[in-house]
Amino acid sequence: MKLAIFASGSGSNAEAIIQSIKVGELDAEAALIICDKPHAKVFERAERLGIPCVLFQPKTYSSKQKYEEEIISLLRREQIDFIVLAGYMRLIGSTMLGEYEGKIVNIHPSLLPAFPGLDAIGQAFDAKVKETGVTIHYVDEGMDTGPIVAQETVSIDYNETRETLTKKIQQVEHRLYPKTLQKIFSERKVGGETNE
Ligand code: GAR
Repeated sequence: MKLAIFASGSGSNAEAIIQSIKVGELDAEAALIICDKPHAKVFERAERLGIPCVLFQPKTYSSKQKYEEEIISLLRREQIDFIVLAGYMRLIGSTMLGEYEGKIVNIHPSLLPAFPGLDAIGQAFDAKVKETGVTIHYVDEGMDTGPIVAQETVSIDYNETRETLTKKIQQVEHRLYPKTLQKIFSERKVGGETNE
């Protein structure tokens, strides 16, 4: 399974996935990272990990469709089978969804459908709920919607700060994402859906 990982920021989830592949826990190939932000920290990580990281800036295209078509032509050239969104802070449009139907997953730092959108960790913290968590789901045209594949709960303790909660959530993300991808890919292999 040949992957393109999409990221907009730090890229810690992208790194966790790539490390899992390197140590043989995730049976896939991370072919490249796609990033929409020129100064994102994920570029440094990609360089250190030896994975190409390619910048596509939406504002340099006349439409979302053109932007996605450019990305798709690279993904086709690289024979990418599956797209992993890892902190990619942009809605996937119909062009990309049509090309990779049922082959795009996302991670979100809450127990969806609670706290979709931006700053889900802060939203949960401000709401003073006792627990939040991490969700991995297939992507559809909505914001953090789409069929859920895996969820894990994270408690918000009485002395929790945003910082400690963020750390706890990230720890879960870095473990849960590679594990869930492995499950998805092994089930697809059994079903004979991969075009490897
Ligand atoms: C992660 O916490 C991820 O769940 C979140 O962005 C962060 C990216 O961190 N994604 C969303 O909020 C998507 N709606 P990273 O760049 O260090 O992987």
